[in-house]
Amino acid sequence: MTPTKNYDVKDATLAEAGRRRIEWASREMPVVKLIRERFAKEKPLAGIKISACLHVTSETANLALALKDGGANLILCGSNPLSTQDDVAAALVEYDIATNAIKGEDQVTYYKHINTALDQEPQITVDDGADLVSTLHTERSKLVGNVMGGTEETTTGVIRLRSMEKSGDLKYPIIAVNDAQTKYLFDNRYGTGQSTIDGITRATNILWAGKKVVVCGYGWCGHGIALRASGLGAQVIITEVEPVRALEAVMDGFQVMPLIEAAKVGDIFITIAGNKNVIDEAHFRVMKDGAILANSGHFNVEINIPALESLSNGKQQIRPFVDGYNLKDGRSLYLLGEGRLINLAAAEGHPANVMDMSFANQALCMEYIVKHRGELKTKVYPVPEEIDKQVARLKLGSMGIDIDKLTPEQEKYLSSWQEGT
Ligand SMILES: NC(=O)c1ccc[n+]([C@@H]2O[C@H](COP(=O)([O-])OP(=O)(O)OC[C@H]3O[C@@H](n4cnc5c(N)ncnc54)[C@H](O)[C@@H]3O)[C@@H](O)[C@H]2O)c1
Repeated sequence: MTPTKNYDVKDATLAEAGRRRIEWASREMPVVKLIRERFAKEKPLAGIKISACLHVTSETANLALALKDGGANLILCGSNPLSTQDDVAAALVEYDIATNAIKGEDQVTYYKHINTALDQEPQITVDDGADLVSTLHTERSKLVGNVMGGTEETTTGVIRLRSMEKSGDLKYPIIAVNDAQTKYLFDNRYGTGQSTIDGITRATNILWAGKKVVVCGYGWCGHGIALRASGLGAQVIITEVEPVRALEAVMDGFQVMPLIEAAKVGDIFITIAGNKNVIDEAHFRVMKDGAILANSGHFNVEINIPALESLSNGKQQIRPFVDGYNLKDGRSLYLLGEGRLINLAAAEGHPANVMDMSFANQALCMEYIVKHRGELKTKVYPVPEEIDKQVARLKLGSMGIDIDKLTPEQEKYLSSWQEGT
């Protein structure tokens, strides 16, 4: 294969290792594989310029290959400075996919890579967190007119896009892939649940059994983290701001309390709220010596790191992804992965098996945008129900699981009101 131009990766010689990793992930991504095979025949994305800002992992690589086989001209950049798998990025270049992402890149390089992805004047944008879309709508707004539509992968991105829609700033239709049931019920819950525990374990090698684990935010990701931490024997405490979710956490068997109380007793704190300064100075002040802090939410703003720095005399790296902060009062607090999403910083992100569903939704939504070009309004759309159902059916099929069908009598019963007691 002739390597593509217009790329920036850490080390091209890592390609062979990356290729093996991509192939390994593909074994767990049967739905994306089926879509890729169909795309290769039907070419639904023929000649479409797609700029994608995603975590550059082996799972993303399988989506990228499906889009390329579908005929797209794809350029890829990372959606977080710490989430890129450098070997996968190198392999993608060999697969002729212009990839611009380096693990550990600084802020300037991160945005340079986003701008490189935008240089091809995309017709479709694919985003994870809406950094590419917001750059396109601000610094590169002249390019907006070329775009027929976009997709967004994560909760935080969808929140930002809905805010753009509300203020009248959104300039083209975007499908909120995150909001498909076959995405958030699996990727956010089981994917983030397992991989966050994995990231913290790889970074620290702690024993979870017996630890007091404080999970800040009981959304779908929080559900998954709490479930898995408790499965490992941890005592889980939930903090929330939404009463219904707090109540759900109580009835799921977890302790619920304000963070200022939980801060005094927690051994490990995990933010997953998609919000700013969730753990703040007041909380650091009362934490136990040796407490561990990790974030798995999209941006590194959930733990107030400047406040932690101002309370400290200094910090040192204890081991990769573990920084020890020496507080002026003699305590130490340990921050993992610089407060960036720990499952991608210290581990490999979600297992391929759940990304199979998220990325099947992505591929099918891009096909949908092309089929419906010119018909969609400038707004944030949900994933069409037929796509969501199709992904679930294909996934069940790939697992060899059949389900029942409604009888005509049941269909009639469910659509009528006359029959009662
Ligand atoms: N690490 C990953 O791989 C990964 C995967 C999917 C989503 N995410 C990100 O994780 C974050 C959460 O996603 P989600 O789908 O669970 O969102 P969600 O909206 O379902 O849940 C977030 C929860 O946090 C709560 N919350 C908000 N502010 C809070 C505060 N100050 N204290 C306590 N709770 C608070 C909200 O009430 C809500 O219940 C987002 O940033 C999302 O983009 C990360």
